[in-house]
Amino acid sequence: MNLKPFKLERYFAQYEFSVKYLLSSSDCDGLKQNELLALADSEVKQLWDNLTLGYTESLGHPLLREEIAKLYKGITPENSLVVVPEEGIYIALQSILESSDHVICSFPGYQSLYEISEGLGCEVTRWLPEEDNGWKFNPDFLEKNIKPNTKLIIINFPHNPTGSMPSIQDFQQIMNIAKEKNIFVLSDEMYRFLEYKEGDRLPSACELYDNAVSLFGMSKTFGMAGARIGWVVTKNEELYKKMATFKDHTTICSSAPSEILSIIALRAKDKIIADNLNLIESNLGLLDTFFSDYAHLFKWNRPIAGTIGFAKLLKNSSALEFCQKVVTEANIMLLPSTVYDYGDSHFRLGFGQKNMPEALTKLREYLSGR
Ligand SMILES: Cc1ncc(COP(=O)(O)O)c(C=O)c1O
Repeated sequence: MNLKPFKLERYFAQYEFSVKYLLSSSDCDGLKQNELLALADSEVKQLWDNLTLGYTESLGHPLLREEIAKLYKGITPENSLVVVPEEGIYIALQSILESSDHVICSFPGYQSLYEISEGLGCEVTRWLPEEDNGWKFNPDFLEKNIKPNTKLIIINFPHNPTGSMPSIQDFQQIMNIAKEKNIFVLSDEMYRFLEYKEGDRLPSACELYDNAVSLFGMSKTFGMAGARIGWVVTKNEELYKKMATFKDHTTICSSAPSEILSIIALRAKDKIIADNLNLIESNLGLLDTFFSDYAHLFKWNRPIAGTIGFAKLLKNSSALEFCQKVVTEANIMLLPSTVYDYGDSHFRLGFGQKNMPEALTKLREYLSGR
């Protein structure tokens, strides 16, 4: 398969571990292992203390799969396959698609979602949101663009990079269209449970439709990206078997310590998620003031969920040039929309990190000194 370089990853690689302020990261601040272990109940504490570092069960630790199932309605542990999140995209697409298939994918977005589909030889139609309508993905687009060979609709809500979400009605419409036309759905739900209002949370696609695969994991919502633990969930048994079989060619099984750490975090999910949402909400409040102070420079659609949003540079300036100046002159990393192949006018801001207020103050200083 011929895959183009992952532009966002290549951009991050230049600065992620050298720049002082990361103001575009999509994960919540990394959870400290000591703090996480302090949340362990006695059963998991024992598992941790007696852990051996041999191979693990290929489908995932049974207790982890039990905790995963509890996140969904009508889902059993047998419906979930533990993977690295990025791996989940790869094996789901490999298991669903053939080169003659047509795919519709929300765009801009996480590059693997469309890149791997294209790499498999599929034709991919990009489904763009309406910026002036709160980055709305209009389901009518699907009706107009479905072809006889459309095999898969790929969606990602809460959305990277805009932080937008469809209404429940629009989401139902998307799922109903897929059901009626018998089209698979890959629903990337990596930012789930970070909805600022609980009422905005959507059902998971795998709950609503047997031919849907939902992807979620520990990286963003739980601040555990370094654990490399995620999962794909589907009620479609044939597809499940295909994905599980494919995993023998990727990672075979997951990291033993990471599985146990993930069980602890999922059992303590209410506290971890509440802490992260508190941080996000306070950081977002600072951004509200920032964008109202700089309304002459930037346009901002306030996200509805997640850790990231997509701002537009007014005055026709290049986002790439702006981000490069900010990183070299102020030691702050922002992410230009060029890495999303989405023009050169937007940049991604992240607000899940603890030092975000300081980073924003530095950005203000930089802007006032220009
Ligand atoms: C929408 C989306 N899907 C999948 C992933 C992959 O997650 P991970 O990097 O933990 O493998 C990311 C990470 O940025 C993402 O934003």
